[in-house]
Amino acid sequence: MIDRALVDEILARTDMEGLVGSYVTLKRAGANYSGLCPFHSEKTPSFTVFPADGSFYCFGCGVGGNAITFVRRIENLDFTEAVSHLARRAGIRIPETSLKSVSPQYDKNRFYEMNTKAARFFHRALFADTPDARAALAYFTDTRKMSLATVKHFGLGYAPNDWSFVDYMKKEGYTDEELSLGFLCGKSEKGSLYPSFRGRVMFPIIDLSGRVIAFGGRVMDGSQPKYKNSSDTPVFHKGNNLFALNFAHKHCAERIILCEGYMDVIAMHAAGFPYAVATLGTAIRPEQARLLSRYTKKVILSYDSDEAGQRATDKAISLLEDVGLEVSVLHIEGAKDPDEYIRERGAESFRALLGESHTKFDFNFNRILKKYDLNIPQQKIEAIDALCDVIAGVYSSVEREIYIAEGAKRLSVDPKNLAADVSKKIAIRKRNATKDEAKSAREVLGGFGDKVNTDFAKMPRVARLEETVLGLLQLYPEYRTRTFGKEPLLTEDDFLTELGKRVFCFIRDAEAEDGFDSALLDTAFTPDEVGRIAGMRVLRLRLSDNGSAVFEECVTALKDAVATEKKKDAPPSFDTLNDLLNRKRSQS
Ligand code: CTP
Ligand code: MN
Repeated sequence: MIDRALVDEILARTDMEGLVGSYVTLKRAGANYSGLCPFHSEKTPSFTVFPADGSFYCFGCGVGGNAITFVRRIENLDFTEAVSHLARRAGIRIPETSLKSVSPQYDKNRFYEMNTKAARFFHRALFADTPDARAALAYFTDTRKMSLATVKHFGLGYAPNDWSFVDYMKKEGYTDEELSLGFLCGKSEKGSLYPSFRGRVMFPIIDLSGRVIAFGGRVMDGSQPKYKNSSDTPVFHKGNNLFALNFAHKHCAERIILCEGYMDVIAMHAAGFPYAVATLGTAIRPEQARLLSRYTKKVILSYDSDEAGQRATDKAISLLEDVGLEVSVLHIEGAKDPDEYIRERGAESFRALLGESHTKFDFNFNRILKKYDLNIPQQKIEAIDALCDVIAGVYSSVEREIYIAEGAKRLSVDPKNLAADVSKKIAIRKRNATKDEAKSAREVLGGFGDKVNTDFAKMPRVARLEETVLGLLQLYPEYRTRTFGKEPLLTEDDFLTELGKRVFCFIRDAEAEDGFDSALLDTAFTPDEVGRIAGMRVLRLRLSDNGSAVFEECVTALKDAVATEKKKDAPPSFDTLNDLLNRKRSQS
């Protein structure tokens, strides 16, 4: 088990506002601090730091916990790594041995090693002397016109269309469980392993420390799916990484090019633009936007020129601006994507294009101009409407003013009228946003789509009461003493949701051992769960009355709700059946 005194010491020497303040701009709000949540996009601060007990909670998205949880989330570290990170920050040395014993469920190093072995296997297989391997290498060098140096630089590979990968990895000592947890293999219904990637060319994904964390594999013909990507594993979380950032981070202080595909990135690096990265087979996520903001000032969006690419551009612009990045959009004409453009027109032509990358306003404006014919009155009205929509979405009022002036000139309309239309659109947006927020808050309360407590929607009343009781138990030692005393007020059978039961048992066992402390939660729960548990605590803390009468009422209410819930499931008992029968008889 973890050395608790050490963790306490580290937490005591960590100033929460300083720690959080290095990622988020905080403003004082009474005894606490608030700021824009770094874990979801928002325009009004609902993220709160409570220096009194060193905790944080976001009233918008429900993340929360203490300094360890914060670091686990924002730096994507596991428990041990987060503790060492904070220790380093506080200038405390931790003995290596005390860390090993704290080790998380998985030994991450083993997964990194396993992925490296796999990457080497795929790379070797690309140069094997077989027709399949020759075809794979030719796909890179002939079809995609890559040099051998590029193939080697990116460690590209080939996953043979047979089971040799499984045999090799097993010989290297990896267990079935490790191979399937690491997404390198799947398990058939009969329980035998098969390689996840077969007959595909392979792109290893490498993190900033040079460790192989995942793979993408592409087919070489038109079959589906075109790409197969690792899903989350103990060492890989999709939203937290970018393809080729391991190379790009050395060249991207000024600007970074963000594209859609592996092939685009590789083509750009080979053409002399080593500051290109790609999201991994998904639209850009808020974590990736934040990651970018740590390495660069400006992002040049270079998505495919098709409709999907342009829609993705829209979404990326707003996410990137939310984290304070300057954004411009590359306008690729005459090719479907940057890779094709470079292949057909060459690097110099691409460089010229980069020099001309448009501001996001030009990007939107040109798109509108292309879509509508301004000589037809009805279409001009629609164009003005579309333009107002775009301008209404701009956060800064100064910027809006510039766009209104510019737009009015280009569409030859009166700027005053344009400004009035924009104001109307802003008002509508505000109304809708409030509606959306209220709706999602209702959904959370109703437990719909609750991924942390999956039993919530099944029994919302019980779940809510469980959370109330667990919040009070965390806050007040005297309630814990009463609950877990000689004649326990509550037992684990009084909790029906899986999460509720686990939290209850954890508090009870911790209390019996050394006394419960919310700082311990990170040893047993995921960051999402810690957030929820912190929420239970924080929401109670906001209420004025948490007195013992309230506590007792909640305990009784919980027991009642649980009894009702259990009755729902249970088949009618013999007694109730008899009752019914008797009543029926007396009626007739
Ligand atoms: N992608 C994916 N799964 C798919 C299709 C695409 O994960 N089924 C991701 C990949 O990361 C890919 C990127 O989205 O690199 C862009 O897709 P696309 O433009 O179709 O792929 P390219 O690699 O550009 O392929 P190509 O130019 O060879 O058509
Ligand atoms: Mn492409």
